[in-house]
Amino acid sequence: LKHFITTEGLSKALLTEIIETADSFADMSAQQVKKVPLLRGKTVVNLFFESSTRTLSTFELAAKRLSADVLNLNISTSSTSKGETLKDTLQTLEAMHSDMFVVRHSDSGAAHFIAEHVTPNVAVINAGDGRHAHPTQAMLDMLTIKRHKGDFSPLIVAIVGDILHSRVARSQIHALRTLGAAEIRVIAPTTLLPKNIEALGVKVFTNMQAGLKDADVVIMLRLQKERMQSALLPSESEFYKLFGLTNEKLQHAKPDAVVMHPGPINRGVEIESAVADGPKSLILDQVTNGIAVRMAVMSMSMSGQMTEKNLKSEAQ
Ligand code: CP
Repeated sequence: LKHFITTEGLSKALLTEIIETADSFADMSAQQVKKVPLLRGKTVVNLFFESSTRTLSTFELAAKRLSADVLNLNISTSSTSKGETLKDTLQTLEAMHSDMFVVRHSDSGAAHFIAEHVTPNVAVINAGDGRHAHPTQAMLDMLTIKRHKGDFSPLIVAIVGDILHSRVARSQIHALRTLGAAEIRVIAPTTLLPKNIEALGVKVFTNMQAGLKDADVVIMLRLQKERMQSALLPSESEFYKLFGLTNEKLQHAKPDAVVMHPGPINRGVEIESAVADGPKSLILDQVTNGIAVRMAVMSMSMSGQMTEKNLKSEAQ
């Protein structure tokens, strides 16, 4: 099997293998060895039903660096606008002998649905589905943490902001737990916390000072306004005052703490520019590591190194 839908339920061994494979691609790239023939003759189709800068670009670059042929279907100008169903669109692309679909969709479960309906010779990689999962984002974040902190076991990781709507937070929490992080905290107003979030094995804080205390890694998330009912939209200025990451609030974390954000960032809402552009920020490292992780996931997927379990939905 070759699908990569979620980080939930994957073994520590598989997550570690993805990180180690990506680490070697990142080292190769740093030494200017950018292209390898692992996916030569394969066709990768990027199917993004939601907007993206980082994920789409780095999947395209990663596929090209693996020597695949890459097709980015422009959904807004595709025949979906003439009423073609998702299934018919997929069948049409399969008829072009595609080997891999990289899918982003606003519906939670879309990647899982597609994986269940494609022919067995097509792999499906989830590039973000609704609030559900964004597994390659989580893995590039794990690679970034590994490259800067080494071992996961002593780390206190604080994830801050709109946890309720964040597929990134869910995928990060599953990966961090499996990789053995010492403590995973979520910090958010109660209105932006999912019910029963504690069941995922996290500590919940509604106060930044308490939640950031002695943290090694601080991961900021943006307010996902596109997924919020307008009545529930918090005031940006109030949110920034209480939960926006400033150098002053960052003082509560460990002196060598690092700051991460999956992007896109909203300066002055969840993070101040002095932090986003400051010496503790790994935000652009995350973007760079996205290429290596996507190379690892695509090459492992094509060589059958993913596990059957990965078809399971985190929503189940
Ligand atoms: N982090 C992330 O998914 O960014 P994009 O929406 O730009 O792909």
